[in-house]
Amino acid sequence: MSLLSVKNLEKSYVTKTMLGKTQEHKVLKQVSFELESNQILGIVGESGCGKSTLAKVLTRLESFSAGEIKFDGKDLRSLDSKEFPHLIQMVFQDPYQSLNPRKKAWEIIADPVLVTENISRSEAKKRALAMMEKVGLLTETSERYPHQFSGGQRQRLGIARALMLRPKLLILDEPVSALDVSIQAQVLNLLLKLQKEFQLSMIFISHDLSVVKHISDKTLVLYFGEIVEIGPSAEVFNKPQHSYTQKLLDSAP
Ligand SMILES: Nc1ncnc2c1ncn2[C@@H]1O[C@H](COP(=O)(O)OP(=O)(O)OP(=O)(O)O)[C@@H](O)[C@H]1O
Ligand SMILES: [Mg+2]
Repeated sequence: MSLLSVKNLEKSYVTKTMLGKTQEHKVLKQVSFELESNQILGIVGESGCGKSTLAKVLTRLESFSAGEIKFDGKDLRSLDSKEFPHLIQMVFQDPYQSLNPRKKAWEIIADPVLVTENISRSEAKKRALAMMEKVGLLTETSERYPHQFSGGQRQRLGIARALMLRPKLLILDEPVSALDVSIQAQVLNLLLKLQKEFQLSMIFISHDLSVVKHISDKTLVLYFGEIVEIGPSAEVFNKPQHSYTQKLLDSAP
């Protein structure tokens, strides 16, 4: 059984026009795919094609209009809200916006356990420091605030926080897009290391094809909310079947 199974997923946003009429905008159309345990799925596609919307639906930040999502065989919507953060976690593009500027590094990382588990602050701090080491942050920096870290370090903080509850699936929405190219490679290699260590499945969203090619086992190409191609990354990148994938590859630097 797949860890994640998505069938005919549809998502519409309803917006109001200037005249007050409601308008339905279909953002995801008949999206179907499977993700196995320990697998990294890359999602690529142009701006506005629905990548973040898909991530938000999978993390239950947004509802969906039709279709079926199963996680470990269970309906995603039926999962207990206390259990959910132990199963699926998300890392966002902008580590600055997603980290509380008034909290110290260790508090940010420890937050998920402090919220969900009945443990002391000192125990939570101990676990946060251990996680800092795993993501390559110096424990001496645990009392610092987010603005006192570099972009790459901030993204490591976000990754550490996402891993604190030992989720099975990590969804990363453009996690390295805001970083310098040299730092991107370091964070990608860290993610590959953590994937093995924590036996994670990952969904890695990026508009950068070379990044997805490097990290993902399987690649899904999204075009105006529809999957135009999905398959092992080597095949998608070396023998694209769809003209849109070819176009994306041609336009990549
Ligand atoms: N809350 C919302 N209400 C209405 N429309 C929305 C909302 N969020 C996204 N959309 C629309 O849905 C479409 C897909 O947006 P989404 O953010 O998923 O794209 P994306 O592939 O992540 O793009 P990018 O690469 O720029 O991040 C866009 O047309 C966007 O305008
Ligand atoms: Mg997006």
